[in-house]
Amino acid sequence: MKNIVILISGRGSNMQAIVEAQIDGAKIAAVIANRADAAGLAWAAERGIATAVLDHKQFAGRDAFDAALAELIDSYVPDLVVLAGFMRILTPGFVNHYANRLINIHPSLLPSFTGLHTHERAIAEGVKFAGCTVHFVTADLDHGPIVAQAVVPVLDDDTPDALAARVLKEEHRLYPEAVALFVADRLHIDAGRVRRSH
Ligand code: GRF
Repeated sequence: MKNIVILISGRGSNMQAIVEAQIDGAKIAAVIANRADAAGLAWAAERGIATAVLDHKQFAGRDAFDAALAELIDSYVPDLVVLAGFMRILTPGFVNHYANRLINIHPSLLPSFTGLHTHERAIAEGVKFAGCTVHFVTADLDHGPIVAQAVVPVLDDDTPDALAARVLKEEHRLYPEAVALFVADRLHIDAGRVRRSH
């Protein structure tokens, strides 16, 4: 059984998709948020999943918060840490501590449109396809070895919200698949690229 700790900051719909996928060999050990009002916390608690809040505003700086966060996460002995809408930039020390066992989903086809406001920027650029990317996290924001991507069309009359909703639907399919591949030991990082074994 592999222990998974999921970090959220808000609604947690990707966390819900991962929980609901009931991945063989995976135990959701905890859902941790940096905001007490993260809606996903109540959802997880109702399902008997351990939840915790660590408010970044209570800490003097990024290093102190990340150190406390790592200590909390490690109390659940995780095999995999999943960022699911966790709206914090993580320090290199934190990221390196979880090297090769920390993944994120970003709502763009990386390496395009890293950072915030991805859908607005994709529409403004006139790209014809958008999507989402699951990747291992490295110290380089929204970079790191790509595990999986899904593609959606960008429509002529798209709004950022309409595009976000189309991408989010794919996120909910893609992220549990990626977690399942990790849990089955089928992801191998080789020179910055992820190879899948069968
Ligand atoms: C998702 O679009 C995810 O790609 C991005 O933040 C959003 C989180 O949504 N990193 P949710 O909290 O999982 O519903």
